[in-house]
Amino acid sequence: MSSLFDFDARPDAYAVMGNPIAHSKSPRIHTLFAEQTAQRIEYTAILVDPGGFDQAVGNFAAAGGKGLNVTVPFKREAWEFVDERSDRAEHAGAVNTVKIEKNGRLFGDNTDGIGLVTDLTDNQGWTLGGRRLLLLGAGGAARGVLGPLLEQAPAHLYIANRTPDRAVDLIEEFSGRAAGTDSLDGGGFEHLSGQTFDVVINATAASLAGEALPLPDGILAPEAKCYDMMYGAEPTAFMRWAMEAGAGQVADGLGMLVEQAAESFYLWRGVRPQTQPVIAQLRAEL
Ligand code: ATR
Repeated sequence: MSSLFDFDARPDAYAVMGNPIAHSKSPRIHTLFAEQTAQRIEYTAILVDPGGFDQAVGNFAAAGGKGLNVTVPFKREAWEFVDERSDRAEHAGAVNTVKIEKNGRLFGDNTDGIGLVTDLTDNQGWTLGGRRLLLLGAGGAARGVLGPLLEQAPAHLYIANRTPDRAVDLIEEFSGRAAGTDSLDGGGFEHLSGQTFDVVINATAASLAGEALPLPDGILAPEAKCYDMMYGAEPTAFMRWAMEAGAGQVADGLGMLVEQAAESFYLWRGVRPQTQPVIAQLRAEL
């Protein structure tokens, strides 16, 4: 029998924390998921001051909050702060999803990599296994997706970065997790000359600044697929490069954003929302 108390109970509280946060699409995405799956939640965006992350999470948990998404620049701090980490968060070195357990313990996960892979394989219909993959960038965004990309067993994965040493370091760190990959290598953009790739993923922040990457001619195999983890109302600088370079298909990161959110929602609620209608809705709102 339901009681008045059930009826009055506040919805479970979730939030995204970051800085800046005003333009985050996470509240919109999770509200659409909740409507679609008839889950009673509220989801807000919280601007956190530099140095204030641990305190903000503590306050949110103390007030009865059930879970958090974490975005720039706090994913590493979240990784350090949680009580327990999933394997994929452990390897990513970053946490984008926190589940606040009933006893107040914080479980940290990272859904960025699986979000990317789901968008590439399920939504775009691209194959990664056995293909020649190029990952552009060696910062937090690249590190966060590298493990799940390697799990797809590409034949070859090359990491190219403006600062070549960072690419080499990342390769070394993940070399033990590339059992299904024939060659894992990395270096600067200039080392790409003479190589060709079936799938190119941009995980650099260059598109944020509207800057093109110094990519040599001739690195795209016929029908190559190009993906920018950034997104916008207009094609990014990398997407424009890909189209001019003759890519077979080009996509932006809006689908990844929605897929990583769906994986967070599933961790918190045990319910998998349909992502296609939400991607379409967000696309229309860009
Ligand atoms: P993130 O968490 O977004 O990955 P990051 O750790 O600062 O942030 O890494 C940013 C990535 O974008 C790096 O690979 C960076 O190259 P460097 O390692 O050489 O700094 C890359 N990047 C940013 N702006 C760039 C630009 N204008 N051209 C090329 N690469 C750029």
